[in-house]
Amino acid sequence: MNLPDLKKAQVRSDKKVEYKVQDYLFSNALQGKKYFLRTYGCQMNEHDGEEMKGILEFYGMIPTDDMESSDVILLNTCAIRENAHEKVFGYLGRIKHLKKQRPDVIVGIGGCMSQEENIVEEIKKRHPYVNFVFGTHNIHELGRLLLEAKEGSQDIQVYSIEGDVYENVLYKRDSKITAYVNIIYGCDKFCTYCIVPYTRGKERSRKIEEIVKEIEHLKQEGYQEVTLLGQNVNAYGKDFHDGTEFSDLLEKVAETKIPRIRFVTSHPWNFTDRMIDDIAKYDNIMPYIHLPIQSGSNRILKLMGRRYTKEEYLELFQKMKEKIPNVSITTDIIVGFPGEEESDFLETLDVVEKCKFDGAFTFIFSPREGTPATKLKDDTPKEEKEKRLARLNERVNFYSKWNNEKLVGEVVPVLILGESEKDSSKVYGYTDTFKLVNVISSKENIGKIISVKITDAKSFSLDGEEVS
Ligand code: 5AD
Ligand code: SF4
Repeated sequence: MNLPDLKKAQVRSDKKVEYKVQDYLFSNALQGKKYFLRTYGCQMNEHDGEEMKGILEFYGMIPTDDMESSDVILLNTCAIRENAHEKVFGYLGRIKHLKKQRPDVIVGIGGCMSQEENIVEEIKKRHPYVNFVFGTHNIHELGRLLLEAKEGSQDIQVYSIEGDVYENVLYKRDSKITAYVNIIYGCDKFCTYCIVPYTRGKERSRKIEEIVKEIEHLKQEGYQEVTLLGQNVNAYGKDFHDGTEFSDLLEKVAETKIPRIRFVTSHPWNFTDRMIDDIAKYDNIMPYIHLPIQSGSNRILKLMGRRYTKEEYLELFQKMKEKIPNVSITTDIIVGFPGEEESDFLETLDVVEKCKFDGAFTFIFSPREGTPATKLKDDTPKEEKEKRLARLNERVNFYSKWNNEKLVGEVVPVLILGESEKDSSKVYGYTDTFKLVNVISSKENIGKIISVKITDAKSFSLDGEEVS
């Protein structure tokens, strides 16, 4: 047993990152068993879910959407806000019930929540039927943990370490058209509200050659788009201590000529001019940037430990808009950070008025145990925070629709991903600027980039028709 420890998870030493090659010991014992996997949270977690599926299917297991009839239930959890916890505990309630009827079902909990001490304590106390818990640093041990659980053992294996880099990982990707590619793991920013630097270890980059090799391979398989993943992609290469920076990678990836390249997430603090120039220069780097601001108040930004001011953010934003034709920029905003007053909130609204974001993910501050912000005095009532969120959302949605409406009548390139969910006579896809479009077009275009004339705009999607 290895229990998580947030204090240990916080350590950043000068220990060298180890680059390890993954191999998996095969066994027939799980062949034909059905697994049910539920993933919560960000793209990084989704991609971890693809690794879990890769391992399970390597052992001959078969996916199912029906939890009740599955042999193995896995929850790949998220810890970013309290509601992510609540969803998982809600699910565990259902699983508890199922376990009473079918004690042979194997239940495993992985992901970011597993890295939290209080959560693992709660699982031990209130959900003792869980067979095993594993963390973000040892997904590769999933097969072994499952085989042992099948033999009746119960285990908690969570490592609170800075982390290493694994290559040769088995992924079972959800799409044959777009793919996630990890470029840097972990985060060293320690924004005072955020649990990520504790759940995912230190910043450690994959080698450029490995990333390019993976993308070349994806391109050969027919993939049209890759999204480079990191908690903070701008920090790419810093841990090599040889002057490597994100642009070195970005340029190499662009030269693979894969049709579309995206990356998330960027921190405004070290977004270089060279990165902006790269996005402007290469046709296959999409004109879309997710640039979280979190707050428009300099006082709150300082308390958050964000390392930039409102003015610096606005300057960077302006530069992107000027240098990258048609760029679309989205953001993340937290309201109700401890000590946020009406005047601070008005600064945030002011940024929204100035930037007119294409979209924004908005959240109420959620205290995360073990992070510094939980110790700050927070006397704004919940109702007031909810009101601020509603006021913010009203402006954010207004500008999303405003930006979308500007596209009506334009012809834009859309990568078609599948049949439209609401209307099976249509297909759906994304513009280069990462806007969802429902398109009147043939299903034969799935997997292709086609020209689409935009006919209507809503807050969160567009309608269009194929033009030849
Ligand atoms: N409370 C609310 N929102 C948070 N985020 C991260 N931590 C918290 C928290 N404790 C938001 C930030 C981040 C996004 C992924 O989640 O806006 O950019
Ligand atoms: Fe969290 Fe800040 Fe790191 Fe983003 S940059 S993952 S908000 S600590």
